[in-house]
Order: sequence, then C-alpha cells, then structure tokens
Amino acid sequence: MRIRKAVFPVAGLGTRFLPATKASAKEMLPVVDKPLIQYAVKEAIAAGAEEMVFITSHAKNSIMDHFDRDYELEAALEAKGKQELLDAVHDVLPPGISCVYIRQPEQLGLGHAINCALPAVGDQDFAVILADDLIAGSFQPCMAQMHRVYQEYGSSVLAVQRVPWEETHKYGIVESEQIGPGLSEIRGIVEKPKTEEAPSNLAVVGRYILTPRIFRLIDRTKPGAGNEIQLTDAIEALMGEQTVLAYEFEGTRYDCGSKFGYLKANVEMGLQHPEIGDEFRDYLRGLTDSWLTTPDQKIG
Ligand code: UTP
Repeated sequence: MRIRKAVFPVAGLGTRFLPATKASAKEMLPVVDKPLIQYAVKEAIAAGAEEMVFITSHAKNSIMDHFDRDYELEAALEAKGKQELLDAVHDVLPPGISCVYIRQPEQLGLGHAINCALPAVGDQDFAVILADDLIAGSFQPCMAQMHRVYQEYGSSVLAVQRVPWEETHKYGIVESEQIGPGLSEIRGIVEKPKTEEAPSNLAVVGRYILTPRIFRLIDRTKPGAGNEIQLTDAIEALMGEQTVLAYEFEGTRYDCGSKFGYLKANVEMGLQHPEIGDEFRDYLRGLTDSWLTTPDQKIG
C-alpha cells in the first residue's frame, strides 16, 4: 500500500498577501530561497509520491513555470560554471516525478479544489498538502510520518496539532479517541469553534491522506462557512462511513498563509540556512532593542 499521488490546492485568492498574490500564487512566496510549493513537493516526494497534481487558477502560471525545465537558464549557468546553482535548479523536480495541472474554474473553496483533482487521482488513495502550512524541523518530513500511519492502518489520516485553547476559532477542531501515542480515531470535527465550545484543542493542519470516497462526499457537500465547499464537511461525512485517524506529527508548523507565520518561517529557516545562517544570526544579535521597539521607524 503506497500513496503515489499528491494534490496541491494552489488556487486560493491569497487575499492576506495582496498585492503580492495578485498575479502570482501565494504558494510561490519564497521562504529564504525556495518557494513554499517547492518545500511541499519535496515533502510529498519524501513520502513516496510520484505524481504531483496542482489545482491552479487562471493568471497564476508561475507554479507551472517553476516546475518546468528552463533550458536557457540551465545553459547560461553551465556556461558560467555555476554548478551549485545548476544543481539547485535541477533539484526543483527530481527525475521520475511528473506534474499534472488542473484549473479550478472558480474559487469555491478547498473542498471544491480537491474535487477538481478527481480526473487525475481516480480511485486511488491520495495525499493533500496545503503548501502555505510549512512543516519543518523533524527527522522525518510530516507526510512521510503520516504515510507510515497509513501503511499500518490503511485508512485516511489527518495531521493534527495542539493549539492554544484561545485559538480554536481559527481551525477545524477534532473530537477523537486515543488509540496510540499521538494517534487517535476521529469521532467528530467542528469548524472554527469558540474556546468554550471546542471538543479539544487538537487542530487539523494542511496535510491529509484521503480515500477516493471523499470525492463523492464532496459532491454532496453544500456550501458551508464563507459560502465555500468545505473539505471539513466532507471529512465529517467520510467519518460516518470509514475510519479517519488524527495523527499528531513531529515538527514545527509555520502558518505561511499569515504574514506573521510567514515572517517566523523566514527568520527561523534563515537561521538554519547553511549559506547565510551564521551571518543572519550575527545580524539579528546586532539589532538594537531600540530599533526593535520603535514602531514609527519605517523602511520603504
Ligand atoms: P485559504 O483558506 O488559506 O485561502 O486556503 P486563500 O485564498 O489561499 O488565502 P486568503 O485566506 O484569502 O489569504 C487554503 C488552501 O486552499 C487553497 C488555497 O490555495 C490554500 O492552499 N484553495 C482555497 C483553493 O485551491 N481553492 C479555493 O477555492 C480555496
């Protein structure tokens, strides 16, 4: 049992990052030197996926361009003897990995975006990665950890994380029964509950392994919160028919869909970067308290 296909819904409007996301997908925002989507694709490949299915929107062709070969650029780097950069460019998509692009004609929500993947996924179990949830800092990448669980139990798996109780209103929160360390069976999901109504503080984050049954259930899902077709609603229906597990992954998650989370990812991953980490650490140390605490000091 293996997951061969990974779906990347990248058709969202990305309004929290406008105007940066006006003509380019949010998932093309770089963290240090790689776009978010490249981290996500790498994670899917590390879990064994071979076919990457991108759900894109109009006017956002940069993702397709990013994963395409650029022979002119490669020739120029080769001519200049820039082998390291050439390797970095080749590393964008390793050999044997294929990409499929499907347009989501209208931004009708995450559930709808995933349903657009049906022609590429067919009747196989598949992975979903939301690239704006960047997960790093663990020995094994998050999707590979989930894949281990999937191989053992053969059922759908959602990545979950404990969040502060006062933040439950930002997430889908699960009600679940523990079946092992960091692993539980989901009994219910509530979308963005107030703290006092939340059944737990276990929040669903942007990693899923799903069975193809989800497509039929999304078809039957009526628009929910924000008039969008919510994946959470279809997962709730899936739970009624099949086992759905919640897995507490190891690693640090950065919510790169928000400006603050995105900046945190850049700072923390910049500090670990082999090329600029030390210099960046010295730079941060050198920032004076007054610079950090003077709000009216503006650049640009
Ligand atoms: P978000 O809820 O983060 O929405 O989508 P968004 O449009 O990307 O960003 P904001 O909130 O306006 O700033 C979660 C994920 O679902 C995808 C997004 O690309 C993101 O990966 N998505 C969302 C779609 O592909 N299609 C949709 O219709 C909605």
